[in-house]
Amino acid sequence: MLSVSEIVSGESYEECRTTADWLMSSTEVRPTVGIVCGSGMGGLAKMLKDPQVFKYSDIPNFPRSTVHGHAGQLVFGTLKGKPCVCMQGRFHLYEGYPIQKITLPMRVFKLMGVETVILTNAAGGLNQDYKVGDVMILKDHINMPGFAGINPLAGPNDDRFGVRFPCMSDAYDRELQRLAHDVASELGYNKFLRDGVYCVVGGPSFETIAECQMLHRLGADAVGMSTVHEVIVSRHAGMRCFALSLITNLAVMDYDSEEKANHEEVLETGRQRAEQLEKLLSTMVARLEHNNNNNNSF
Ligand code: HPA
Repeated sequence: MLSVSEIVSGESYEECRTTADWLMSSTEVRPTVGIVCGSGMGGLAKMLKDPQVFKYSDIPNFPRSTVHGHAGQLVFGTLKGKPCVCMQGRFHLYEGYPIQKITLPMRVFKLMGVETVILTNAAGGLNQDYKVGDVMILKDHINMPGFAGINPLAGPNDDRFGVRFPCMSDAYDRELQRLAHDVASELGYNKFLRDGVYCVVGGPSFETIAECQMLHRLGADAVGMSTVHEVIVSRHAGMRCFALSLITNLAVMDYDSEEKANHEEVLETGRQRAEQLEKLLSTMVARLEHNNNNNNSF
């Protein structure tokens, strides 16, 4: 159970600055790439060379991860020679955190010098062509909680992070999507790679059949409980974003189906595809150029 002080504090510019300064005085790594690992996909962090690990509970202002399958630590190191920071375990709305707390690490990334944010998640497939084990490159998102006013940028805007009304039609960097396709074809991963629209829901209950049908009709190819809030805050701060969904289960779309979504299935599929995902992302990181269209400076 979260205490009241854990829930209400820690997302102002000053608090993010305190956290970034604390981390930068604790490590010499100056990351330009920030990675957020989804459920069962924390293995990417193990690829970092000379890792320096900080438990979330030891980092000032950081929330703690409460989900099974999420380690709850920040790992600094180099991946194929690029300085990186990797979140092993992320925060979700369904854990009870206010949305600004969930996205605090993105602002800390920005203040540490991160230019590119790479996110992974587990998602349910809505697109009828998708199979369990497919990997979807996010080309866009639908922010369901956002329609109800639950947006990490709601409230006073701090111009030091970004503008009041940030554009989201370029949320997912197209060059990085192209790079992912290039790398995937070199590695022979094309057969399970897709491009699609990710819809975020609040959870923690999985969607009903009627909800899955509705989301599919609205244009979503996959549904999950993360990523979009982090992307919104990253784009607000001028970092470029690339995100992948591992399709861990197929959303139940008809009343005759005996299928039921469950978290164990999500973790097991993650374990099976993890190595290929790690190879794809680490090869992409090796080829990243410095981001020149960073529209924000500190
Ligand atoms: N729905 C929502 N979130 C998910 C799912 C799903 O079917 N699978 C993995 N995360």
